[in-house]
Amino acid sequence: MTEPTSPYAAPKPDAPDAPASAAPGAGTAPDRKPVTLQRLLDMHAAGEKIAMLTAYDATFAHAMEAAGVDAILIGDSLGNVVQGLQTTVPVTLDAMVYHTECVARARRLAWIIADLPYGTYHESPQVAWRNAMRLAQAGAHMIKLEGGGWTTETVRFLTERGIPVCAHLGLTPQTVTALSGFKVQGKDAESAARIKAHARELVDAGAQMLLLEMVPAALAGELTRALGVPVIGIGAGAECSGQVLVMHDMLGVGGGRKPRFVRDFMQGSASVGEAFARYVADVKSGAFPAAQHTY
Ligand code: KIV
Repeated sequence: MTEPTSPYAAPKPDAPDAPASAAPGAGTAPDRKPVTLQRLLDMHAAGEKIAMLTAYDATFAHAMEAAGVDAILIGDSLGNVVQGLQTTVPVTLDAMVYHTECVARARRLAWIIADLPYGTYHESPQVAWRNAMRLAQAGAHMIKLEGGGWTTETVRFLTERGIPVCAHLGLTPQTVTALSGFKVQGKDAESAARIKAHARELVDAGAQMLLLEMVPAALAGELTRALGVPVIGIGAGAECSGQVLVMHDMLGVGGGRKPRFVRDFMQGSASVGEAFARYVADVKSGAFPAAQHTY
């Protein structure tokens, strides 16, 4: 077999907990270790902010790792920003597997989460497990699925079988048609109570992370304090355990309307790597998101 020639195809470190210095191209801080589920739980408990971004290929995943991103999400937003689709509904499991493999090849340190796309976990927990296995085999450490209530048994089924799950509540893009558009969720008392009940139920069923999209900051803050797992926000305010943005949005190449919660980190950055590093620094310090990014 020939040696890999791509700068992004550096060999894996020998041991799963090998320090970053043992992993070619994996950043400069010698004490950085691969991020584990326990590390994320510890960060949440200690109030240390988690910086997450979406990526869909090895080149950007590599640059994010070098910038100190803790977790990389292969989001089904790839339907919008890579495939040019209007919604994430047509994204296939094969596409998610392909992009997860691309990111996983660059992975040295970051926690890797991959979305189960629409229709791949709706039928039964068994079908969800078979599909989640494909993402796990492609290199995902955790899968993400959207919705509460009807997803609880599936989350239990997956986590009991050793697949870590991130539950996505609030604005759920896969059902944006049913929600009548990209609108803030949990604004009134009834829908806030529903989100809180679903979040508690999902964590009790085994979900080890919650992602909240487009919900009032006060609601996200309350859940972050109440739940024993990291709460990652996108348009959910600064009190969350961490933040995520779609990479194209935070590089200012998302196109279309810029949601309120997005900040373009390319402005004032000399390179993509610098934009990633500034995002990490601002998430860690609490400077991002600011009031103007919050509902
Ligand atoms: O698919 C995606 O990129 C997401 C975002 C909300 C982070 O789920």
